[in-house]
Amino acid sequence: VIVVAGATGQVGGGVARNLLAGGEEVRVVGRHRETLRDLAGRGAQVVVGDLGDAVFLAGALGGAAAAFLLVPPDFDADDLRGRQNALGGAIAQAVRESGVTHVVNLSCLGAHLPDRTGPLLGLRDQEQQLDALEGVNVLHLRPAPFMENLLLGMGFIRRMGFMGSALRGDVRFAMIAVRDVAAHAARRLSARDFTGSSVAELLGQRDLTVGEVAEVIGRRLGKPCLRHVTFPPDEAYQGMRVMGLKPDPAARFLEMSQALNQGLFAVGLTRTLENTTPTSIEEFAGEFARVFWG
Ligand SMILES: NC(=O)c1ccc[n+]([C@@H]2O[C@H](COP(=O)([O-])OP(=O)(O)OC[C@H]3O[C@@H](n4cnc5c(N)ncnc54)[C@H](OP(=O)(O)O)[C@@H]3O)[C@@H](O)[C@H]2O)c1
Repeated sequence: VIVVAGATGQVGGGVARNLLAGGEEVRVVGRHRETLRDLAGRGAQVVVGDLGDAVFLAGALGGAAAAFLLVPPDFDADDLRGRQNALGGAIAQAVRESGVTHVVNLSCLGAHLPDRTGPLLGLRDQEQQLDALEGVNVLHLRPAPFMENLLLGMGFIRRMGFMGSALRGDVRFAMIAVRDVAAHAARRLSARDFTGSSVAELLGQRDLTVGEVAEVIGRRLGKPCLRHVTFPPDEAYQGMRVMGLKPDPAARFLEMSQALNQGLFAVGLTRTLENTTPTSIEEFAGEFARVFWG
């Protein structure tokens, strides 16, 4: 059996559906049975509990050939990295106690960098915690920022008529559709073709500026004048606070945007056939438009 954590989420949900469609036996983990009902209907075993509970998770991982694991973001945390490390510590302990030998760990592009990357520092800590486990083969998936993050700005486009973030309009960086991350993870979980500690960066179809993204989405929405506006850091921070983020997560996400603006994520990376994935921003814009007009 393959265990999938975060199965009601964007990536984990896709991983579970891909594995089930491929005929794998799947056990999904989430905090609420209700929201896992669709996957149960597709044939998944369901276990309900918290990833921060190492004893529960070790039981959930029992007898598994492989597991998809992640440290989910907790935007409500007073201390984001502390919360990430508490969850990550429980996950690492559960992996050790369960004896599962193959783990695909959802990390993020930039998790190799030692500082100035906000929430990615917690993912870096988690990569290191898992690497310290003996006898466990761990593949750290490091996808680029998700195109789906753009969906969060939909209300803003409706109200204000433009896209906005702390990102500079002229810096090119990789962006990926979640479905490509999920497909890669599912393939590797089935193949279990990794040993020791390894990393797979996933860079999406091509690098983009947020200016280009606004143009593509604007065309698809029938709003050819749609533009991206770069907010000064203090306004971006206040915007996240208004959206309900606590001060520490808001400051850390702002720091991550600044790292993207400085091109830090791409340092030392070369685009190759292996790290390039199929879904283009034009295809994603179709999904965006369906939600926007739906
Ligand atoms: N967004 C990006 O641009 C980006 C880019 C690269 C990498 N990433 C990585 O992707 C991760 C997020 O993945 P995603 O977008 O799939 O997340 P998501 O859609 O927010 O889903 C999070 C999942 O985690 C579960 N969860 C949260 N807290 C939990 C807990 N304490 N115990 C058990 N389950 C818990 C949630 O399930 P329930 O609420 O149903 O329990 C949900 O299924 C980030 O942590 C980051 O590492 C994100």
